[in-house]
Amino acid sequence: MSKFPRLDDLNKRAEEGGGPERLQKQQAEGKMTARERIECLLDAGTFQEIDRFVTHRCTDFGMEKQLIPGDGFVTGYGQIDGRLVYVFAQDFTVFGGSLSVTNAAKICKIMDLAMKNGAPVIGLNDSGGARIQEGVDSLGGYADIFLRNTLASGVVPQISAIMGPCAGGAVYSPAITDFILMVQDKSYMFVTGPDVIKTVTHENVTKEELGGAHTHNAVSGVAHFAAEDDRDCLQLIRRLFSYLPSNNLEDPPYVDSKDPENRMEPELDDVVPPNPNQPYDIRRIITQVVDRGSFFEVHRDYAQNIVVGFARLAGLSVGIVANQPDHLAGTLDINASVKGARFVRFCDAFNIPLITFEDVPGFLPGTQQELGGIIKHGAKLLYAFAEATVPKITVITRKAYGGAYCVMASKHIRTDINFAYPMAEIAVMGPEGAVNIIYRRELAAAEDVPTLRAEKTDEFRQKFANPYIAASRGFVDEVIEPRQTRPKLIAALKMLQNKKDTNPPKKHGNIPL
Ligand code: HXC
Repeated sequence: MSKFPRLDDLNKRAEEGGGPERLQKQQAEGKMTARERIECLLDAGTFQEIDRFVTHRCTDFGMEKQLIPGDGFVTGYGQIDGRLVYVFAQDFTVFGGSLSVTNAAKICKIMDLAMKNGAPVIGLNDSGGARIQEGVDSLGGYADIFLRNTLASGVVPQISAIMGPCAGGAVYSPAITDFILMVQDKSYMFVTGPDVIKTVTHENVTKEELGGAHTHNAVSGVAHFAAEDDRDCLQLIRRLFSYLPSNNLEDPPYVDSKDPENRMEPELDDVVPPNPNQPYDIRRIITQVVDRGSFFEVHRDYAQNIVVGFARLAGLSVGIVANQPDHLAGTLDINASVKGARFVRFCDAFNIPLITFEDVPGFLPGTQQELGGIIKHGAKLLYAFAEATVPKITVITRKAYGGAYCVMASKHIRTDINFAYPMAEIAVMGPEGAVNIIYRRELAAAEDVPTLRAEKTDEFRQKFANPYIAASRGFVDEVIEPRQTRPKLIAALKMLQNKKDTNPPKKHGNIPL
């Protein structure tokens, strides 16, 4: 208690939120309160709250009798690993964490501060969306936030945790931000919930199926991380932020790992199987090459034919994009293209160099892909790599065929250094497919088709299924032994540390959406 009873009373009421019953319900569900979440997210004792006594101004539906200081949102700033961040947390115990015009203004206030001071905004969402009692006022509040989300995009990192049932605007604002984390079994995201769907389309669907953590991480791709519980989610945010700069004018933080820069890994020589049709896990190469323990995979459960994530090389943050031969043979399909493109654009916006590991037999063939618009979606990845001006380094570990060769950070789209392993195969298509086309007439007329096919396939393999023609053109800068990958990447990355490249002046490009 202080000497100021009115202040004490307001503080107490702000902390009580929606009252003991609702708080108990929240805790019984295994959820932290909004304030506990912020405490757990930030460095101890660093949180400074703003607008703790703001109340709504709605006088309809008896709302004037229900005034809770803070109006269900806790907003302010603090630190993660000593670095400034802005944060808001929605308190589901106060009108279901719904958004009023007044608590929307609280979010706008910290977003404006974040933009002026160049620090990220982290939103801990637990909200039923626009406050129904406020009508268009609350819709306007959301639109004010959406505008700021959009203007902040590419200027400061924006991270959204979904920590309860989120609907309407409470999912659209996160959708504009850079990363979405969801808590398993506790959080949901949907534009309209199961009841509305039942009324409109007569479909029966559970909350979990419609918008649970698994659905959005593995099926829709809306979310990037699935956390076990609130604590895990908040720790994941801390780790994610450790790879990111505070704004687009800064470089990401340096974190010394003590891992020797010249570390060679003889084991890497045997990771890629001699049989080109045999799969392997590309993560085996990534984890051995980057600073020990530094690989942090993003979007792990979605479009697993491409692997993306952050890591460090000699203490410097890098973005990894890698085809995954273990899944759909590493082909590029619609989902993989969109996943890769979004990650590449994030890294480029925030000065994070791109390291690409390439083993791609091509785009995934099929009517589903063609009718689904693989042309347009594949073009996103091509566009993203081509427009990126951060340092770009590629390692072709095995296949680099067709359009996918061009797309995956090839020399021709401004990649700075392109390495290839000796077993790399770089051509318009694989030997079997190529022989079927260019020797179609000969094969039709041949008496012994299998022998002719085998002969021609072998001839094609000898000629094209290697990295040396590309190296002779300068499209591959160096053919390296796999064991040398780490020192070679670090040397190239350091050489590129002062890289400056630009795109022609324009309002913005027109990425094929
Ligand atoms: C006001 C709300 C509310 C809302 C929930 N509550 N959502 N109050 N406005 N949008 C209140 C409830 O009345 C209840 O109050 C308390 O929060 C807890 O809600 P429950 O329904 O008991 O919780 P639960 O069963 O867990 O269900 C959570 C929910 C559901 C799935 C979020 O409440 C729901 O469907 N809410 C409405 C979602 C919605 O349609 N929002 C509008 C979206 S439109 P008491 O007093 O009983 O504790 C929108 C437009 C933005 O956001 C623009 C987008 C582009």
